[in-house]
Amino acid sequence: MAHAGMGINEVMKHNHVNPQFTEEELQKVQEIISHYPEGKQKSAVLPVLHIAQTHWGWISPAVMDYVAGILQIQPIEVYEVATFYTMFHLEPVGKYVLEVCRTGPCMICGAEELIHHLEHKLGIHVGETTTDKRFTIKEVECLAACGGAPCLQVKLKTMDGAYKYYENLTPAKVDELIATEWV
Ligand code: FES
Repeated sequence: MAHAGMGINEVMKHNHVNPQFTEEELQKVQEIISHYPEGKQKSAVLPVLHIAQTHWGWISPAVMDYVAGILQIQPIEVYEVATFYTMFHLEPVGKYVLEVCRTGPCMICGAEELIHHLEHKLGIHVGETTTDKRFTIKEVECLAACGGAPCLQVKLKTMDGAYKYYENLTPAKVDELIATEWV
């Protein structure tokens, strides 16, 4: 689930200035770190990156450096995790990030048609964000919902950063969601 083709120059295109977690977030980070043996705080990198993305909406190089400082690891150790998983956004994204599964079962059941429909409907390509910052389209690998193919997930703006799954999608169903739910 790597960001194929995303070079370091591309990653460096955007950045935050002096990112800082809130006190509440720092407490949560310390609690997560406490789950691991002393000296193994690197193991907390994924949940801490999730907290960062919930705070800033996306993960810039400055945020990665900040996370590395908190975990007392090298920045590259955070970079290699954040740039590997498609769940982390490396540039600003829209309010709704439509993460459409493109793996075999979903493809066979119409994911390609769905993606083309979304691109046409929203006037953007995969990886892009609408000018009103409402939507970003991403392609992702298997969402473990193959029985409901084709499907997509959208991350909710909740404290736990849960995802909502939408299954057995058709262009008509997506149109309805755009008009009624993703507003
Ligand atoms: S192939 Fe799409 S959810 Fe598994």
